[in-house]
Amino acid sequence: MDTYHIRGGYSLNGEVVLSGAKNSVLPIFAASVVTGSQSNITNCPEISDAEKMRDILRMLGCSVTGEGNDIFVDSSQISNHTINEELMSSMRSSVFLAGGILTRCGIAEIGKPGGCKIGKRPIDIHIETLKALGAEVEEKEERLILKTRGLRGNTVNLPFPSVGATENAMIAASRAEGETVINNAAREPEIIDLQNFLNKCGAKIKGAGSSSIAIKGVKEMVPAKYEIIPDRIEGGTFLCMAAATRGEIFIRNAIPEHIETILQALESIGCKIKTKGTGVWLKDCKNIRGTCKVITSPFPGFPTDMQPQITAMIAGMGIAGTIRERIFENRFGYVKELNKMGAGIEICGKNAIISKGNSLVGNNLFAEDLRGGAALVTAALAAEGESSVCGVQYIKRGYCRLDEKLRLLGADIEEDDGERA
Ligand code: UD1
Repeated sequence: MDTYHIRGGYSLNGEVVLSGAKNSVLPIFAASVVTGSQSNITNCPEISDAEKMRDILRMLGCSVTGEGNDIFVDSSQISNHTINEELMSSMRSSVFLAGGILTRCGIAEIGKPGGCKIGKRPIDIHIETLKALGAEVEEKEERLILKTRGLRGNTVNLPFPSVGATENAMIAASRAEGETVINNAAREPEIIDLQNFLNKCGAKIKGAGSSSIAIKGVKEMVPAKYEIIPDRIEGGTFLCMAAATRGEIFIRNAIPEHIETILQALESIGCKIKTKGTGVWLKDCKNIRGTCKVITSPFPGFPTDMQPQITAMIAGMGIAGTIRERIFENRFGYVKELNKMGAGIEICGKNAIISKGNSLVGNNLFAEDLRGGAALVTAALAAEGESSVCGVQYIKRGYCRLDEKLRLLGADIEEDDGERA
């Protein structure tokens, strides 16, 4: 199993450049299916989830070419409407493909999706949304078979602003007959990115970023080139890691409005932050005080994808914190690992309570999911002594060359791919 070896106690200092957003590239790859045309997607992050999504596109018969950050997807020749169970179960985001495949083939056969183990993560909202747009859905053991004689626009009222269901509805509605309105839509920046991508391909979508999105179905779509936005969660992760080590970093390409609640949380405990254009400076984390209070909620609230990293940062700083997780019911799995380091965190239902005055000592740690893994790295960077973090494959699902970027900031981190043992 791939492992990071981290010697803690070095403060992170310097400049970092963010990769493209994981949560944009996955739905945008999925959306490339609906276009039936060629898309050149740039600033793609080199992460394993994006590689898996490309494998799924190939399996559907798309041509996927290009290297590094610059990828071409040609979906004009779809030849398959079934997603292999292994790929489907390895990544929850593959459910986004249902709307696109249905539009193109009139039928889609998919396994029940997988992904990081952070709660039940049902897909009922996706299914109801596709039904509202004219899909018939049949469940056969572990598989879902969706059929349609042509998707039709409709009003879709989401019971919760699910990011994935909003994206699935946008993709499916973009070529449906007539007009769709998605009410109680998710407002995340990645929803706006998906709208911008689809519109560049000829779709007629407006309202993304608000809770009501209107889509006029179009008959045909066109080739387009599109650049993915920078990853706000990667940005937030570097800020937490740097603050935990009392360092000073400069993020060259952040979008400050996307990380506002993260910046507010850091400022609330005395970190000095400056933003200008796409630059974000974290300066002077020496006079840290007070209690860091965070409640996760859909955008523009504090992102659940930053909850583990900020908890680890608070524990690493030795200050008090209360963290309330309101999106996923099982997202504190990493806390037992932090407690092995001496964090003394108590879980009371949806809350993690971090008490003041604990200090972290290195240990052998096991990541069980992507952001939980990033939290363990954050804690190990701040701890005294050496830690190993096993389960680097989870971290690579969403962070592009995390160890390299951290070394450039002065961290003592090495990856061991297991072959040396
Ligand atoms: C996306 C992000 C993920 C992030 C999450 C919340 C991607 C690729 N992933 O995931 O990183 O943590 O948003 O910001 O963009 N739910 C249902 N039924 C459904 C769908 C969702 O009950 O059909 C529930 C989920 O169990 C969860 C909550 O709604 O409790 C939020 O899920 P959702 O917004 O859909 O997250 P994802 O799109 O899976």
